[in-house]
Amino acid sequence: MSVRTVATQPFSDQKPGTSGLRKKVPVFQQPHYLENFVQSIFDSIAAPKGATLVLGGDGRYYNREAIQIILKMAAANGFGEVLVGCGGILSTPAASCVIRKYKTYGGIILSASHNPGGPKEDFGIKYNSNNGGPATETVTEAIFAKSKSIASYRILDAADVPLDQLNETSLGGMKVKVIDPVSDYAELMESLFDFDAIRTLLKGGFKIKFDAMHAVNGPYAKEILEARLGAVSGSVMNAVPLEDFGGGHPDPNLTYAHDLVEIMFGADAPDFGAASDGDGDRNMILGKRFFVTPSDSLALLAANATLAPAYKQGLAGVARSMPTSAAVDRVAKALNIPCFETPTGWKFFGNLMDAGKVTLCGEESFGTGSNHVREKDGLWAVLFWLNIVAARKQSVEAIVREHWAKFGRNFYSRYDYEGLPTEAANGVMQHLRDSFATLTKQQFGKYTVQTCDDFSYTDPVDGSVSKGQGVRILFSDGSRIIFRLSGTGTEGATLRVYLEAFEADVSRHHLDAQDALKELIQIALRISELQTRTGRDQPTVIT
Ligand code: G1P
Ligand code: ZN
Repeated sequence: MSVRTVATQPFSDQKPGTSGLRKKVPVFQQPHYLENFVQSIFDSIAAPKGATLVLGGDGRYYNREAIQIILKMAAANGFGEVLVGCGGILSTPAASCVIRKYKTYGGIILSASHNPGGPKEDFGIKYNSNNGGPATETVTEAIFAKSKSIASYRILDAADVPLDQLNETSLGGMKVKVIDPVSDYAELMESLFDFDAIRTLLKGGFKIKFDAMHAVNGPYAKEILEARLGAVSGSVMNAVPLEDFGGGHPDPNLTYAHDLVEIMFGADAPDFGAASDGDGDRNMILGKRFFVTPSDSLALLAANATLAPAYKQGLAGVARSMPTSAAVDRVAKALNIPCFETPTGWKFFGNLMDAGKVTLCGEESFGTGSNHVREKDGLWAVLFWLNIVAARKQSVEAIVREHWAKFGRNFYSRYDYEGLPTEAANGVMQHLRDSFATLTKQQFGKYTVQTCDDFSYTDPVDGSVSKGQGVRILFSDGSRIIFRLSGTGTEGATLRVYLEAFEADVSRHHLDAQDALKELIQIALRISELQTRTGRDQPTVIT
């Protein structure tokens, strides 16, 4: 076995987005494409000789090939050991858990999260550092900079490593340890939640349905929900991970998790439903014929946190991404703990957690998490909910309605316009920025604009500044309209419009969110000129 230095040339499109580098599979399959990016990572992270790395992915198409390439490159770049999930599998939260538990130097996660998989679909790669969280902005920038000047990469000439059994092999001088992808994570979950109480709840006839969407969480949910907690067999549906997620879009929302939604809104619906995404970090929570918005879910977990053993001492603070509704802000106020508003993307939460400033955090995009790892965590959210239901002995709907009665309700919805021509999408954003002065103090029916800005965030821990994080139109009654361009799309541009209206009056809490937000939606379309500028009458997805 010998190390080969391969001459290469930079590709112009290796700028990592919110969650690493995401491209179509054929892009990754170009000669040297993956290798260039991996070498750029290794050249940027300054790992000492003999360091340990974690490696795994969500099992989508090209996962196996990519794992073999990365292993051979890690060996050629002086790593001492790689912990790789059996079959090349590790959910994103499990990878974070393993990095932290074994105090490794970092890890590489292969996933395009909730995007479809398959030969013509999406693939992705990202680097997480030793806190288990996505690389910081500085490291990400360094990786991108390296990718622009790369001239060669190093790879070991060797046969593929067997990955389908738990074993230890060596690759050149490097140890490859194939680990059970589920057990470390399952143990962590058992240490956080009251498994006995959940077991009793399930034994008492409380019915649950978990839709793994043919994605990575299938084996995790089978082991934790069915084997350890005793949910009846079949409680986990679409449990077998497939390279193309069964042709579906592995995103747990009302549109894409339609199998589950049909069951939960049908006759004889179970008491609790949930789903997670391609790499297992997102979650959707449903009660019997009842949808819990992710923003409400975060607020509710914060308000009930002390019911779970891991959080019984209370929370240091909470954080939400800017577009996430302010429901959690009012819980924080009542609990007298700080609440941080960060840009979209999980990496901003990591700094706050490492500094001990927050315990819980979440995003409107079906992501919730805590300081147990440094990624959002789908199954964790499900277990947290089950723990709360078991302790309160109430239905999901009753718990949410009580919450609204106490704190008020934030009606919330997100409109996504996908695959727009980049120029048109940028045009909408620029037009909005140019309108700040005229919009301020303008009145639209019962809504008066208080201020508008382009969200900017100064990290309270390291002082770094992130500008241009989305246009905010803030109304005097606390309602908000946010416009933001996606950082994770792989085709054209995706424009997201986030709408939020606060309602204190309980007699109006039964309203449908789309009805309650009707006026705000009209205002959003009008001030953005979205329809004329993009030629789109309807959003692609409404969540
Ligand atoms: C989307 C979500 C964001 C999330 C990210 C990764 O990013 O909106 O909240 O952190 O996926 O799961 P976006 O496409 O909006 O940049
Ligand atoms: Zn994901």
